[in-house]
Amino acid sequence: MKENPHIQEQLEAWVKENKGHAVLGTTAQYIPALGKVDPSLLGICMVDEDGHYYCAGDTDKEFTLQSISKALTFIAVSCHYGLDFVLERVDVEPTGEAFNSIIPFEIHRPNKPFNPFINAGAITISALLPGPTSQKKYEFLLEFLEKLVGHALELDKEVYDSEWKTSHRNRALAYYLKEAKFLDIEVEEALDIYIRQCSIKMSVKDLALIGLIIAYDGFNPITKETHFSAEIAQVAKVLMVTCGMYNSSGNFAAHVGIPAKSGVSGGIMGAVPPKLHSQTYEFKAGAGIGVYGPAIDVQGNSAAGTMMLRQISKEWDLSIF
Ligand code: DON
Repeated sequence: MKENPHIQEQLEAWVKENKGHAVLGTTAQYIPALGKVDPSLLGICMVDEDGHYYCAGDTDKEFTLQSISKALTFIAVSCHYGLDFVLERVDVEPTGEAFNSIIPFEIHRPNKPFNPFINAGAITISALLPGPTSQKKYEFLLEFLEKLVGHALELDKEVYDSEWKTSHRNRALAYYLKEAKFLDIEVEEALDIYIRQCSIKMSVKDLALIGLIIAYDGFNPITKETHFSAEIAQVAKVLMVTCGMYNSSGNFAAHVGIPAKSGVSGGIMGAVPPKLHSQTYEFKAGAGIGVYGPAIDVQGNSAAGTMMLRQISKEWDLSIF
C-alpha cells in the first residue's frame, strides 16, 4: 500500500494539540539525569505493516528505555528458556500499586513476584538473563534488541550512573528478593544488569518497530523475519494491557485500549494488532507506536503522550476492546 499523507498531517496536528498537556506532569526527578530534560518535548512515530513510518514532533532525540525494557527483557528471557520456565518464577497478576512499591511483597509474601513489569519482577527477570556476569547478560540482551531494531544500540552512561547512585529503593527491593530466594545472583549484580537495561537508548522509531513486531505476534511484516513465538507475544500483550501503564492500566485500557508499555523517561511503546472490523481506514492492518514526552504523571506515564494516544486511538478506532 502507498504512504498516506493524511496520516502524517493528522499526527502533526495532534502533536501540536497535545503538547500543552505536558504541564500535567514533571520529568522523573528521582533519577537526576532524567529530571533535567526539557519537559515540553513531545514526539510520535507510527509504522505500518508495509514499513511506512509516520513521525511527528520531537522525534530525533534518543531516550533511555527505563521500564519499557521490562517488556523486552521478559521476551528475550522467555525466548531463551521458554515461557513456562519464566512464568514459574514471575506471575502475570497486576498489583494496583506503584511500580516500585514494596507493599505487595511485604503484605502478601507471594511465592514469586506478581508480574515482570513491577520493579520486583523486573529485577528477577533481569537476573535470569543468560550469562555468568552482568556484562554477559547485558551483551545477550543488547544483541537481542539490536536484531529487533536492525542497528547498533548504546547505553546512556550518564543516566546509568545517575540511577546507580540513587537506586536506594530498588536496592532495598533486591534485598527482599534475595531474602525470599528469588535471586540466584548477588544483589549488586542484579541491580547492575537491571539499571543497564533501563539505560539503553532508543528512538520513537525503534519503539514503533518493536511495537509492530509485538502486534504481529513476534513476526516483522517488513523484513518477514520471525523474532519470537506468538505464545510469548500474546503473554507480553496481556502484560502490557494489565500492567503496562502500572496503576493506571485500567484507565489506559478504557480510554486508549492499545497494549502498551511506558517508562519514566517518558517513552511509550504501543502494539496495535490488525483489526478486521475497524470503523476507520487508518492502520486497519495494525501498527507499532513509539511516543516520547518526558513529563510524566504520578503513575510514571508520559502525561502528554497518554493524552495524545487517547485522541489517536479514538479517532482511528485502534482500541482492541
Ligand atoms: O527502576 C526504576 O525506577 C526505573 N529505572 C524504571 C522505572 C520506570 O520506568 C517505571 N515507569 N513507568
